[in-house]
Amino acid sequence: MASSKTIRIGIIGTGFAGKFHVECLHRIYGVTVEIAGITSRRLESRQAFGHAHQIPVFDSIEAMLPHVDLIDVCSPPYAHEAGILAAAAAEKAIICEKPLTGYFGPTGADEKYRGDKDSKSKMLDESVQRMQKIAAAVRKHNVFFGYAENFVYAPSLQKEREIIEKTGAQILRMTGEESHNGSASPVYGIWRFAGGGSLIGKGCHPLGGMLYLKRVEGLARTGKPIRPVSVSARTHQITRTPGYRDVKLIRTDYHDIEDYGFMHVTFEDGTVCDTLTSEVVLGGIYDYVEVFANNHRTRCYISPTGLMDAYNPRGEQFKDVYLIEKASTKEGWSPAAPDENFTIGYQAEIQDFITCAVTGTRPQSDLELALDTTATIYAAYLSDERKGAEVEIPQL
Ligand SMILES: NC(=O)c1ccc[n+]([C@@H]2O[C@H](COP(=O)([O-])OP(=O)(O)OC[C@H]3O[C@@H](n4cnc5c(N)ncnc54)[C@H](O)[C@@H]3O)[C@@H](O)[C@H]2O)c1
Repeated sequence: MASSKTIRIGIIGTGFAGKFHVECLHRIYGVTVEIAGITSRRLESRQAFGHAHQIPVFDSIEAMLPHVDLIDVCSPPYAHEAGILAAAAAEKAIICEKPLTGYFGPTGADEKYRGDKDSKSKMLDESVQRMQKIAAAVRKHNVFFGYAENFVYAPSLQKEREIIEKTGAQILRMTGEESHNGSASPVYGIWRFAGGGSLIGKGCHPLGGMLYLKRVEGLARTGKPIRPVSVSARTHQITRTPGYRDVKLIRTDYHDIEDYGFMHVTFEDGTVCDTLTSEVVLGGIYDYVEVFANNHRTRCYISPTGLMDAYNPRGEQFKDVYLIEKASTKEGWSPAAPDENFTIGYQAEIQDFITCAVTGTRPQSDLELALDTTATIYAAYLSDERKGAEVEIPQL
């Protein structure tokens, strides 16, 4: 680090994630943050982003590394591993967007590759190997690692953490969901870039949040996290069923991924959590976790949160007003999100990472959570291939 209270950040990726990371980095307190570099695959995108946000532009990760203390990986999932390994080898702190990594087809996979038809046991084996490589590099170089799972940092989940820690609660079951209509990324829906569909692209959020809460429970009561041991799952391509009636309101142009998925996870203490996730939902982003414990019950709203409802009789008048992610209309009543970076957890996430990177402390969302989440999802794909049979989750 440049000094104990200053940190220079280099960002990989100028898409949706790159943009909200920059917004949050500008609002950090207690540490002086310098956004010292941006790089991405396309020259025009990195130059435009650098110009718009006044950030120095670099042509590659390697060129950016000497100028930064922390690499913030906001590239698509297939590129996460390269960014992490380069940063770890250079002994830089790391933030990595979700999912940690995955399986992206054989070397040289092109548009003919179809992940939905490929062997899921091979995917599980190879994604485990990638995770082991990443974990080994991070641990060998002893660098800071923050796994950017915003559900962990949503104000509602952090309140639930406090309840668990202060009351010694045992969570018996949980249900969580993230569903919305696609993604802004041009490579979403293509397995060789994204590593899968709804299960990994969206399901990783509620799953990560729920795995985190069981970790918190175990750490609070016995000092040891409670980890997931098995999963049963199904996925579907609902918009591709012959009977699907397309009225052009739901996105359907996915290449080779599922648009609906379900994961039933059993933890080592016999308790469970269920994740629902889909692309086939109208009405904007739909994110929550519901907790059923032995001494309390909570509904953690992540989006919408119920902070504000806005009524707009004429869509056109709100054309420059942001209301909520992925709502297809601004007409009528909308569940508006006055500060999404706060309610979805982005701001608290980046604050925790920057503070921990500078002070050498462990973030709430760490490498171990990233490994458990990703291993669970690839075990879930294998379960789906076996029509929902229970599959053991590799313990990494
Ligand atoms: N936490 C969240 O809520 C959330 C929301 C959106 C995206 N994400 C995650 O953020 C990441 C990026 O998603 P996005 O929607 O911003 O994607 P995007 O496709 O909009 O942007 C990706 C950026 O990465 C760059 N890139 C692509 N390949 C690269 C490579 N090999 N090397 C360097 N740069 C490369 C692209 O040029 C582009 O600038 C993904 O992992 C995604 O899952 C998280």
